[in-house]
Amino acid sequence: MSKPTIPVIDVRQRPTVMTPELRAIIASLDLEGPVLDQLSRPLRDLRISVTDRCNFRCSYCMPKSVFTRDHTYLPQSDLLSFEEITTIAEAATRLGVKKIRITGGEPLLRKNLEILIAQLSALRTTDGKPLDLTLTTNASLLKRKAQLLKDAGLSRLTVSLDALDDGIFRKMNDMDFPVVDVLEGIDTALAVGFKDIKVNMVVKRGTNVDQIVPMARHFRGTGVALRFIEYMDVGASNGWRMDEVLPSADVLAMLQAQWPMVSLPAKSKGETAKRYGYLDASGAVDASLGEVGFISSVTEAFCHECNRARLSTDGRLFACLFATQGTDIKHLLRGEEPVNADFVARYLAHTWMQRSDQYSALRQAGVIPAGNASARIEMSYIGG
Ligand code: GTP
Ligand code: 5AD
Ligand code: SF4
Ligand code: SF4
Repeated sequence: MSKPTIPVIDVRQRPTVMTPELRAIIASLDLEGPVLDQLSRPLRDLRISVTDRCNFRCSYCMPKSVFTRDHTYLPQSDLLSFEEITTIAEAATRLGVKKIRITGGEPLLRKNLEILIAQLSALRTTDGKPLDLTLTTNASLLKRKAQLLKDAGLSRLTVSLDALDDGIFRKMNDMDFPVVDVLEGIDTALAVGFKDIKVNMVVKRGTNVDQIVPMARHFRGTGVALRFIEYMDVGASNGWRMDEVLPSADVLAMLQAQWPMVSLPAKSKGETAKRYGYLDASGAVDASLGEVGFISSVTEAFCHECNRARLSTDGRLFACLFATQGTDIKHLLRGEEPVNADFVARYLAHTWMQRSDQYSALRQAGVIPAGNASARIEMSYIGG
């Protein structure tokens, strides 16, 4: 298998103008061999944002001061249709994608989402297996939708929850949304048969540090894996400051002061989280108590194995959470000469092979200054 050569046209910087020259390059791409980016990373995980709207206003993601009542969201006509999303997802599976995550904004706000889930759950990986099909939600609508999602073929889900204390939670979502509804959403998801549920907690110094131990205590032994996320300087509007980041090492120390814990081996390459298990009285890992994870992109970047691409609500492919430019795939699908999944696969490969992004690693190394940057896209637009 020969390593594919990198064509000279950089399609990431502008909307697609499908010139005969570009079409010829794409048509001649060899998809038989591994499709790797400039840092030899494969594409394994596609994260699809289905709406740029959310009914929460978490300060680290969609602060009220920026996302006001007058905020302009994408018009309906700019949103990828479910068919368009499925075509792109199918193309991505041909490149080796094994996991698809549906995100937003809040994905459950997208009408009839279960139809998309059903379409995606029919896709197969290159070795003929079902995809790992998952979704990130704030769980505000989960109680109502859990059964529909399960029936549609969703494999698992991840709930964002930053506090158990009702007052702190209401403040953090900034919409006065009660925590009990989120907890009921998780209970409903468990009751309809979801396994491998994860809870993601963004930790902000001065905001929810006193929730770390109560959250761990609450989910310990429930089968729900809690993950602590370092607050990131993503996007242009959250006013990120390093002094509001609590390093994962400090979170781990807080947990270890309560319970003996030990590092667990990675399940697969390119994982975001470092996992820890609880020990029993004899010092062995007690799997029945579950695990916690640490996602430490500020203090311990994991770019070197990053195999994730992000598809925005309006059909641009972003190679990094901190990118400023994406490749416009929608234009390709809606162009005068409609293209099939095979052509889209080649186009995705062509784009991926030019990728050299490693923002968090460069920030950690001091090559790029930390903090928001005005041109950077928001997480509510490309998903987490
Ligand atoms: P699992 O397959 O369930 O382990 O999911 P995951 O950890 O791959 O994805 P998830 O969306 O749960 O990631 C949790 C959080 O980690 C996100 O909300 C982001 O805050 C952060 N994160 C995920 N992917 C990346 C990434 O590629 N780069 C950086 N810097 N942060 C990421
Ligand atoms: N830092 C870390 N994680 C963030 N998320 C959104 N904004 C940030 C940020 N600034 C992630 C959280 C949330 C998901 C939807 O996006 O994990 O649960
Ligand atoms: Fe909405 Fe999730 Fe962003 Fe909070 S983090 S504003 S719930 S998309
Ligand atoms: Fe991947 Fe970019 Fe995150 Fe690094 S910063 S892990 S390259 S998405």
